[in-house]
This record gives sequence, structure tokens and C-alpha cells, in this order.
Amino acid sequence: MARINTAAGNWKMNQQPEEAYKLCSEIENMVKDEVDSSVRTIICPPLVYINPLRRMVSKDSPLKIGAQNSYPEPKGAYTGEVATAMLAEMGVDYVIVGHSERRMLFGEVDDLVKKKVDAVLENGMTPIFCCGEPLEIRDSGKHLEYVSDQISNGVSHLSDNDLQNTLIAYEPIWAIGTGRTASPEQAQEVHKEIRNFISNEKGKEIAANITILYGGSCNAENAPDLFSCEDVDGGLIGGASLKARSFVDIAKSF
Ligand code: 13P
Repeated sequence: MARINTAAGNWKMNQQPEEAYKLCSEIENMVKDEVDSSVRTIICPPLVYINPLRRMVSKDSPLKIGAQNSYPEPKGAYTGEVATAMLAEMGVDYVIVGHSERRMLFGEVDDLVKKKVDAVLENGMTPIFCCGEPLEIRDSGKHLEYVSDQISNGVSHLSDNDLQNTLIAYEPIWAIGTGRTASPEQAQEVHKEIRNFISNEKGKEIAANITILYGGSCNAENAPDLFSCEDVDGGLIGGASLKARSFVDIAKSF
């Protein structure tokens, strides 16, 4: 698997049903008409919309469907959770794992995140593994070590093949939903560190093939500068993915 320029939309807990169907169909039409076929586009709607959207968007559409979360056990007494295997059965292609909102608001620890990564891969889907430091770590100058530890705890155990099938999203927590995006230099510094860390663990070739996305107040205005950084292969987009025009413009920023 080589690196692929990617625009992934994380809708988070937004959109009423009719809005979600409309947004999805607008995005799909625009992607078909305007986005270069070398660019991968993904939308990750709330779980309840996955099945209807999966039916709207054919499996061979250039627009792929992802989930925002899943639980690693195949079935059982886990009230309120959705099994990774269920998403695979529905034809989901990608699953976001370890988003900082899951880690902070729902207490997801490294060990659970690692199990989730494994379950997504075992079920034939692609994890979008999220990492990124809080503001106090950035201010203390320890952000590179912090992110390397998250990579080490979450994906270092994977086989070469599984690692190359995993997308990594660097999302500094201080940039998420704040309008304060990382500068291209700040993003590039961490992306390069992630690639170096993987290179040391797994070798240069594996590291060169990994797709690393930036997330945190990424929009159509700042995407061209961010995406032109050597180690930035696209974005995981929150707020700006809720408007078809801005999301598609981001996908056209490579
Ligand atoms: P924003 O683009 O809204 O800052 O969100 C980023 C994010 O968390 C994507 O997963």
C-alpha cells in the first residue's frame, strides 16, 4: 500500500437524518464531478446513518463510508456499543479509532484503543488511528515524545502489512474545534517525527508508505498549505466537513 492523498470527514454528533442524506448525496456528486480520482474521500457520519448512507453510496463509489467508533468484542452484553464485526457486515470501509474526544470524554485508554485497532483490521477494515497532544504538553515542549508514545502504544505491535493498511491522524487537541490550526511547520514537525519513529521500528519503506493525516481546524483556506508539507498526506476534517462545498474544496487542495 502506497501513501494516498486523503480527505476524511468526521461529522461527529451532527446532522439530523434528512440533512445527513442530503449532505452525503451532495458530497458524492461533487466528488464524482470535481475530485481527482487519485484522491481518497471518506465520510464518517454518526452510527445511525451508516446503514442508510451505505445503501445510498454504492461500494464502488469514489466516496467511502467510515464509522467514528466501534467496540472490539464480536457480540455480547455491552449495552449501547456496536461491534466492529457489525460495521464490517454493513460494508463500512474505515473506522476512526482513539479520537481525542473518545479518549477524554469517554475514558478510552491506550489498551482499549489498541484492541480496537486490532479488531478493525481483523474485520477487514482500515483503522484511522488518532493521536495528538493536549495544550499543556505542547507548551512543555514534550509533544514529540507524547505522540511517539501514543504511536508506540497503539500501532507499533502491528505486522508490517497491517501497519501499512492503517491511516494515522495527527490531531493536536488544542487545534480541534478551536479555529486555531497548527501551522504547516508545526504539523510537518510532528508528521515527520511519526514517520521517523515508524522508520526506526519497522524500516524506511514501511514508514514511507504510511498515510498520515492532519486534523484540527483544517479548512479549505488552510488545507493547501498544510497538504503541501512533505509528510502531510491529507486531513481528518471536523467542522468543515459538514458543508459539501468546503469538504470537496479541501479534497481538491492537493
Ligand atoms: P475540527 O476540524 O472541527 O477542528 O475537528 C477536527 C477533528 O477532530 C476531526 O476528527
